[in-house]
Amino acid sequence: MLFKQQALLRQKLFVLGSLAIGSVLYLVARVGTLDRLQPICPVDSRLSAPEPEQIPLRTLQFKRGLLHEIRKGNATKEQIRLHNLVQQLPQAIIIGVRKGGTRALLEMLNLHPAVVKASQEIHFFDNDQNYARGIDWYRGKMPFSFPHQITIEKSPAYFITEEVPERIFKMNSSIKLLIIVREPTTRAVSDYTQVLEGKERKNKTYHKFEKLVIDTNTCEVNTKYKAVRTSIYTKHLERWLKYFPVEQFHIVDGDRLITDPLPELQLVERFLNLPSRISQYNLYFNATRGFYCLRFNIVFNKCLAGSKGRTHPEVDPSVVTKLQKFFHPFNQKFYQITGRTFNWP
Ligand code: A3P
Repeated sequence: MLFKQQALLRQKLFVLGSLAIGSVLYLVARVGTLDRLQPICPVDSRLSAPEPEQIPLRTLQFKRGLLHEIRKGNATKEQIRLHNLVQQLPQAIIIGVRKGGTRALLEMLNLHPAVVKASQEIHFFDNDQNYARGIDWYRGKMPFSFPHQITIEKSPAYFITEEVPERIFKMNSSIKLLIIVREPTTRAVSDYTQVLEGKERKNKTYHKFEKLVIDTNTCEVNTKYKAVRTSIYTKHLERWLKYFPVEQFHIVDGDRLITDPLPELQLVERFLNLPSRISQYNLYFNATRGFYCLRFNIVFNKCLAGSKGRTHPEVDPSVVTKLQKFFHPFNQKFYQITGRTFNWP
């Protein structure tokens, strides 16, 4: 009897032990996928090949560990000194375009072990008051990182603000600039939807999109309306090109970032000279949200806030056509300048 019970106990212990070892091996394999090089999809030929670079494996653990704690204000000065952590000026900036998918792009790039994001929009270069505070103020707004990592911030207002290109040039003339664009009419509707939601939250009424976008006197597209002007990408880009060569910009397809983000992110990795580290494992489609969400590791994943991915109002199809026709020549010029073509109408 006693012998039988002992045998049973041994059997149970064996099963439990196997399960525990199996789980540990599974976790190691899963987390390991993040640090493995992934095969690269076909990329734009004008982008240079990434330089071989070693990213310490510990970086990934720190991103959810120490750096995370520091962001929450929980790390000591001693820890910062010990790990040689620094606040670096950004080596790349997502300068726009508003409603192009700037938040999704920043969050997805932050999956890369060598990238650290500034969580908030800093508005240093577009806001005169902030700009007057000086570069050390700006640096102080940056997250802590390891010296080998790169810091990225995003402030979509930069793209359309007159003074910004010169100011960024003065800080760093070789900085890398990312612009994420969507089909211009869709972007304008998205822009309108955001403003509309803000008004509704304050119980205010607001005009219909059609009324804002069409000049009632001329029946033409109202170019004074900001949502229209922002979507004339080439006009803004031309101002930037007075300061930076076109090679310093990378255009991200915001429509493809919604439906198939990985190839877009791999192009950005190459542009930033980073080894390809973001993989399909890091991105999963969430049917409830209707968008891709982020998986950092087996325990930590997140979707973007509900304010990203709003339902757009129905727009009169004749107004949509009018807008598409209006944007068409500007789009052609944009393709010509950037060397990136989209299937926009
Ligand atoms: P809509 O709200 O019009 O759908 P920005 O961050 O520049 O304000 O851009 C917001 C847009 O990002 C959203 O516009 C949404 O379509 C897009 N987007 C792209 N990828 C997304 C993702 N994974 N989750 C949520 N929104 C995403």
